Amino acid sequence: MTVRPEIKPLLRVLAGEHEAIPPIWLMRQAGRYLPEYRKIREQVGSFLDLCFDAKRAAEITLQPVRRFAFDAAILFSDILVVPYALGQKMWFEDGEGPKLDALASPSALKTLRRKIDQARLEPVYEAIGRVKQDLPPAVALLGFCGAPWTVATYMIAGYGTIDQLPARLFAYRHPQALAQLIDVLVEASVDYLIRQFAAGVDAVQIFDTWAGVLPANEFRKWCIEPCARMIAAVRKRIPGAKIIGFPRGAATQLERYIEAVAVDAVGLDWTVELAFARERIQKRRPIQGNLDPLALVGGGAALDRSIDAILDAFGQGPFIFNLGHGVLPDTPVAHVERLVSRVRRGPARR
Ligand code: CP3
Repeated sequence: MTVRPEIKPLLRVLAGEHEAIPPIWLMRQAGRYLPEYRKIREQVGSFLDLCFDAKRAAEITLQPVRRFAFDAAILFSDILVVPYALGQKMWFEDGEGPKLDALASPSALKTLRRKIDQARLEPVYEAIGRVKQDLPPAVALLGFCGAPWTVATYMIAGYGTIDQLPARLFAYRHPQALAQLIDVLVEASVDYLIRQFAAGVDAVQIFDTWAGVLPANEFRKWCIEPCARMIAAVRKRIPGAKIIGFPRGAATQLERYIEAVAVDAVGLDWTVELAFARERIQKRRPIQGNLDPLALVGGGAALDRSIDAILDAFGQGPFIFNLGHGVLPDTPVAHVERLVSRVRRGPARR
C-alpha cells in the first residue's frame, strides 16, 4: 500500500514539518467583521439558533475560506454548546454575550446531566459533513471545544467576566466541587471531540482562553491536568488525533504546558515574546500565532512590521500563522487581505 503524501499544509505542520510559506488561518475568522456573516446573522433570531442551524453554520464556516483562501476552516459554533448539552440553561444576549443559569454553589451541580445529550449536538456534526463536501482538498477542517477550566468559568459565573473572579473563588472555596465539574466537562468534551472527528474534522483546537488567570499550581490542576487527560482519552478512541492547544495567557507556564500536554501544536497569544517562543517552545513543538488582533484593526506600517517580526522569528521552524486571539469585530476586511498576501509572499520576497 502506498501512503499518499499529505496535501493539507496545516496537517503537514501538525506532523512537525516546516513549510517555507506557513499555513494561515485566524481564530474567529467567521464573524461580525464580514458583511456576508452579518447578512446571514440578520436572518436568524439568536446566535444559538445559528449555531444549531447546520446549513447556515456550514455556509458561515466556508465564508472566510472563500474570501481569503485560508489554509483551514474552523467550524462555526461556540464553546458554550457543551454546557447547553449538559442541560444548563444558556442563551446569548445581543451586544452582551453569553448568559447561563449560574452554578453558584456546589449543590447546583446536581442540576447538570452526567453526560452530554448528543441529540442536541447533532446539527454540529451535520454541519461538519456539509462543510467537508465543499472544502477544497488542501484546506483543513478544524473542530474545537473549550478547555474544561474556561468553560467552567462561564458555567459558574453565568456570564463572561473580565477577571473570572467567581470561578477562581469557587476553586478556593469548593475545590472538590470544581474537580467534579471539571471531570464532567472532561468526559463531555472527549465525547464531543470524538464525534467531531467521526464526522470528518482533520484536527481540533482546545481553547483555554482563561488559562492565564490561574496561579502556577492552580494552572497545573485546572488547565494542564484536565487537558492532558482529555487528549489521552480522545486518542484512545481516535489514534493519532491531531490536536492544537491554546492556553491563552500561560506565559512562562507554556513550557510546563507542552511538557505535560501532548498537543501537536501550541497556540501562542500576542503577549508571548518571539525570541522566548522560538527558543523554548518552537524547538520542541510546532507553534501557532501570534499577531495582536488589534494590530490587524490598526493596519498600516505597524501591521506590516508586526507580521514581518513574526515571520522572521518563526519562519524557520514548524509554524502556523494566526492571531494571538480572535478577529475583532472592527477589523477591516482589507487588512485581513493584506495580512494573507504578506504571509504568502514567501521568504525570498521579504
Ligand atoms: O473561530 C471561529 O471563527 C469559529 C467560531 C467560534 C465562535 N466562538 C463564534 C462566535 C469559536 C471557535 C468560538 C470560541 C469561543 N466562544 C471562545 C474561546 C475563544 C475566544 O474567543 O476566547 C469563547 C470564550 C466563547 C464564548 C463567547 N461566544 C463569548 C464570550 C461571546 C461574546 C463575545 C462576542 O465576541 O460577541 C461569544 C459569541 C460569539 N461566538 C460570536 C461568534 C461569531 C459573536 C456572536 C454574534 O454574531 O453576535
